[in-house]
Amino acid sequence: MRKEIGTFDAFEVTMDKMQGHGILLVAGVPPNPMTIGWGSLGYIWNRPVFQVLVRPTRYTFGLMEDSQAFTVNILPDEYKKQIGICGTRSGQDINKVEACGFKMTKGESTTAFYIQESAIHYECRIIHKHRLEPGTLDLAIIEKYYPIRDFHMVYYGEIVGVFSNAQE
Ligand SMILES: Cc1cc2nc3c(=O)[nH]c(=O)nc-3n(C[C@H](O)[C@H](O)[C@H](O)COP(=O)(O)O)c2cc1C
Repeated sequence: MRKEIGTFDAFEVTMDKMQGHGILLVAGVPPNPMTIGWGSLGYIWNRPVFQVLVRPTRYTFGLMEDSQAFTVNILPDEYKKQIGICGTRSGQDINKVEACGFKMTKGESTTAFYIQESAIHYECRIIHKHRLEPGTLDLAIIEKYYPIRDFHMVYYGEIVGVFSNAQE
């Protein structure tokens, strides 16, 4: 059974997993999971916000552009293989939900789907977005991370609910 938890109660585990195998961003109908390793949690405009970065070359990018909401899903460690699939295969080519055997459910507070197997999931409403601006970005970062200049779009998701799987 899932229960709602405090907005930043899972901050530490979210950062740990994000910098570890990765966590899963889900957007679109039908929903497509994509592994992310970069993002931030905090307050902007006095609202709790989850910022995620998506390169325009991802299938997820088109889904995010057509969406008003997304979820961020933290999977238990035994889902390492599925997290690998979601970070190396594209929804353009395969149905990753099927390939991973995930069960998807519509969010409690948003229209976006979340992964039932997740230990924790965030439901977010997109309130702002912008493309990284190369003119004001550190040159060393541009050279290291953007050799083909595919600068990320940054999406600001107002966190409207955080839920934990009580079995975890
Ligand atoms: C650990 C890890 C972290 C990743 N982090 C991001 C990220 O933050 N943003 C991004 O655009 N791609 C990231 N990727 C790459 C995408 O997950 C990958 O290109 C994926 O196949 C795209 O799926 P899609 O085409 O279905 O959207 C990451 C991949 C891995 C393995």
